[in-house]
Amino acid sequence: MPVTIKTANEIELMRVAGKILAKVHEDLGHALKPGMSTKEIDSLGEEMIRSYGCIPSFLNYEGYPASVCVSVNNEVVHGIPRADHIIKEGDIVSLDIGLIYKGYHSDAARTHAVGTIGENAAKLIERTRQSFFEGMKFARSGNHLNDISGAIGDYAESFGYGVVYDLVGHGIGTHMHEEPEIPNFRKLRRGLKLRSGMTFAVEPMINEGKPEVEWLDDEWTVVTEDGSLSAHYENTIVITKGRPEILTLTEEEIQEGIWENP
Ligand code: MF3
Ligand code: CO
Repeated sequence: MPVTIKTANEIELMRVAGKILAKVHEDLGHALKPGMSTKEIDSLGEEMIRSYGCIPSFLNYEGYPASVCVSVNNEVVHGIPRADHIIKEGDIVSLDIGLIYKGYHSDAARTHAVGTIGENAAKLIERTRQSFFEGMKFARSGNHLNDISGAIGDYAESFGYGVVYDLVGHGIGTHMHEEPEIPNFRKLRRGLKLRSGMTFAVEPMINEGKPEVEWLDDEWTVVTEDGSLSAHYENTIVITKGRPEILTLTEEEIQEGIWENP
């Protein structure tokens, strides 16, 4: 399937899908407490998604058994929630959530600190988030995909971090995963030319140590090979002729003034 350009009506539905997901992220982020199991976090997240009449898109996706990916510390993404995995003070916890509203998908991730965390962990979370916004500076019609990918990767690598190259962002719309693939590092080819109405999920996954990752025996959980911490930050966006519209910003981020939508 080629890269699709969404109509104004489709973008409006994705806007609603994005707003709901942002609210779920904000509420679930606040609910995160030491002593909770990752399974409890997932159940709470699923409840929140359904309370808006939306469908959790991750649940049963290619056999994935939960609504929220909960990835702790050295887990990069796709952590499977478990009743015996208890969150503790000092952990960093990535929550990746997707939902469907009237047939349209939104997808977003945030990494949270549980209580007081180390200075290096805090820096990793903040810089992973910032790498996304470095990419956004180049996300506009007429530019190319590699402008986004390159800006993300260059920024993260400037701190000596390992950019995960085995996993990528993606187009999104009537499906969670549409074309194109969106890497988080610079390539030699400039890639797809960006056009207004393209909708993407851009999702840097950044390791404090080396970029290599491996899969656990559960066939989902991705961990850093060297055991270092990893952070994840993802939003669903719309390409325009100016700055992109970020559909999944939380109210807190909007208040913080981290990004001004067109
Ligand atoms: N944000 C992730 C992605 O884009 C979420 C998929 S998890 C899965 O691939 F469980 F649904 F596969
Ligand atoms: Co995604």
